[in-house]
Amino acid sequence: MSMTADGKIATANRRVSSFGSERDQVHLMELRTMADAVMAGARTVDLNPVNLGPGSAKYRALRVKRGLTEYNLRIIVSRRGTIDPNAEIFKKKFSPIIILTTDLITPLRLRRLQAVADEVKSFGNQELDFSAAFKWLTTKWKVKRLLCEGGGEVNDALFSAGLVDELHLTICPKIFGGKTAPTIADGAGAVKLKDASLLKLKSFKKQGSELFLVYQVLKKRRTSKL
Ligand SMILES: NC(=O)c1ccc[n+]([C@@H]2O[C@H](COP(=O)([O-])OP(=O)(O)OC[C@H]3O[C@@H](n4cnc5c(N)ncnc54)[C@H](OP(=O)(O)O)[C@@H]3O)[C@@H](O)[C@H]2O)c1
Repeated sequence: MSMTADGKIATANRRVSSFGSERDQVHLMELRTMADAVMAGARTVDLNPVNLGPGSAKYRALRVKRGLTEYNLRIIVSRRGTIDPNAEIFKKKFSPIIILTTDLITPLRLRRLQAVADEVKSFGNQELDFSAAFKWLTTKWKVKRLLCEGGGEVNDALFSAGLVDELHLTICPKIFGGKTAPTIADGAGAVKLKDASLLKLKSFKKQGSELFLVYQVLKKRRTSKL
C-alpha cells in the first residue's frame, strides 16, 4: 500500500489513488512477481484502470524463474457483487479472474459477473469467510502466496481475520487531508486495544523522500465485537 504522510491511500473523492514515485510502482510490480495470486476489493477494481496482472515480459520472466506461473491469478472481493462488469480488469484475458463473494449477491449481478469472470464463488451468507475462501484457493487454484493490494475495507477484513503475514507500506511525501479519505485499514476496525494487529518492523529503506517499510504481522485474529 502507498500512503500519504497523513495516512491516506486516496483522496476523499477517491479520484486520486496513484501518487507514489516510479520506484514505488516498480516495487509493486516486484511484489507481484512473488505471488501466485493478486487480490483487490470491488471499489479498487472498478474505480481504477487496473488489471492486477504481472506486467511486462521482464516481470513475467522473473515469475517463471521463481517457479511461478507466467501470469498470476487475479481475485476480486465483493460481498454484494457490485463490481462493474465493464471494468478494465475484464478487458484482457491473460489469466483467470476469480470473484469471492457472499450469498448477498443478487441473481442478476451473479449472472453478469459469471459472464466476465472465470469463477464467482460464495463463502458465506452475509459475511465473507476469508479463511474458508483461502483454503479453497489453496486446494483448487494452488495459491500459496497471495498479495492483497487493498483497498482499505478489504485490508481491514484480512487484518481482522488474522490472515495477514506481512505489510509493505510506502510512505509518500504528500498530505491529502479529508476525514473520509480511505486509509490502509478501514472497515469496522478494532474496538479494544487488545484487538489491534501488532507489527514488527522488518526493514525500511529511504529513497528520495519516500520510505519503504516492511512489517511482519505478529498478532492475529480480532476477537471483540462492535
Ligand atoms: N494507495 C494505495 O496503495 C491504494 C491501493 C488500493 C486502493 N486504493 C484506493 O482505495 C480506494 C478503495 O478503497 P475502499 O476501502 O473504498 O474499497 P475496497 O476495499 O477496494 O473495496 C470495497 C468493496 O469491497 C468489498 N468488500 C470489502 N470488505 C469486504 C468483506 N469483508 N467481505 C466481502 N467483500 C468486501 C465490498 O464490495 P461490495 O460493495 O460489492 O459488497 C466493498 O464495497 C480507491 O480510491 C482506491 O483507488 C489505494
